[in-house]
Amino acid sequence: MLASRHLAAISGLALLLAACGGGSDQPATDTPDTPAAETPAATDAPTTVAAGPDGAALYGRCAACHQANGMGLPGAFPPLGNSEWVTGDPGIPIRVVLHGLQGEISVGGQTYNSMMLPYGGTGEMSDAEVAAVLTYVRSSFGNSASAVTADEVAAVRAATAGRTTPWTAQELKSSE
Ligand code: HEC
Repeated sequence: MLASRHLAAISGLALLLAACGGGSDQPATDTPDTPAAETPAATDAPTTVAAGPDGAALYGRCAACHQANGMGLPGAFPPLGNSEWVTGDPGIPIRVVLHGLQGEISVGGQTYNSMMLPYGGTGEMSDAEVAAVLTYVRSSFGNSASAVTADEVAAVRAATAGRTTPWTAQELKSSE
């Protein structure tokens, strides 16, 4: 009695499983291959760091002026490689990207006197995007400075919320 009830339960389960096969002609044939095929693919997959904005791609916005190699154009656009402004206190490049920069500035021993427009306006670069592009810039073009986090950008953005004009080099120096 007990045994036949178990049998009934088991065959009921088998029916259920067959029904879940979706009416395929060969429900069992592809099953054994699947785990074997998937396992190596899963182990070979590159480790993905927390998904976020792609700093290298975002640098495309800066490259028109600072150039793909980060070395700028003499007399016009200062370099981001070998720039003390890029690799020092992250608050400095964060300020430049959020609000822009104007007036005389010495970079790598050369003097520039121009203007960079801000990227921090509403609907422009997010905290995570500014962090990603600066992390890229601070670790490219020969630079090896620390990564910048979205939290750091958010803190600077909040602390400088009243800023409406581009920074000057003098102001950036005293913000350190
Ligand atoms: C339209 C041209 C232009 C674009 C695009 C541009 N910049 Fe600039 N940037 C400048 C100029 C010009 C200066 C110097 C301003 C001055 O003379 O006061 C500058 C200065 C800087 C500086 C400080 C000086 C140095 O060389 O270290 C940083 C940092 C910087 N830019 C980062 C960026 C980043 C990051 C981006 C992209 C998100 C970007 N810039 C996009 C023109 C540009």
